Amino acid sequence: LLINKDSVRSDDEEKKTIEEIVLQFKAGNRAAVIPVLQAIQDKLGYLSPYATEKTANITGVSINTVYGVATFYSQFLFVKPARHQIRVCRGTACYVRGTSTILQAIERTLGIKEGETTPDGEYSLETVACIGACAFAPTIRIDEDTYGQLTPKKIEELFSRRSKQEEAHEGNAGE
Ligand code: FES
Repeated sequence: LLINKDSVRSDDEEKKTIEEIVLQFKAGNRAAVIPVLQAIQDKLGYLSPYATEKTANITGVSINTVYGVATFYSQFLFVKPARHQIRVCRGTACYVRGTSTILQAIERTLGIKEGETTPDGEYSLETVACIGACAFAPTIRIDEDTYGQLTPKKIEELFSRRSKQEEAHEGNAGE
C-alpha cells in the first residue's frame, strides 16, 4: 500500500492554492460567490475561514454573506476531511460475519469511534452499506482500496503496516 503524501497540504500551501483559485475570477462579481467556493472545495475538499475571506475579497461581498451562502448549500463542508477515509461495510453478509468486531478492532487500534477523525487528521471512520464484495465479508474500504476476509488481528496488522510504510515514506521524503 502506498501512502500518498502529496495529498497532504500544509496551511501555507492551502492558502497559496486558495489565492491562485480566486485570481482566476473577475474581481467585484457578486454572482461568482458560489463558483469560487465550488472551485476551492473541489481542490481542497472543504472551505477554511481563509477560503471564505478570500472569496469575500474577490467578489466584493462581506464575509458574513459568503458564509451565509455557503451554509445554505449542504454541498459545502467546513471541516477538513481526513487524509484517509475508512468505510466499514455493515451490509448483511458482512454484518453476519462480524462487522461489529471489525469496527471495534479499528476503534481500538486508532482510538476513535465511528463518525470520528483521528486527532492527526489521518483517518476518519464510518460504516456504509454493502460495498459489493460480499464474497469476502467482512470487508472495509480505505479510500479506494478494499480489504476482505478480515479479523481483528488482520486489522491490527493492516494499520501497523500502514503506519510503518508511512514512516518509511516520510524518512525517504526527508533524505
Ligand atoms: S455486505 Fe459487505 S460487501 Fe456486501
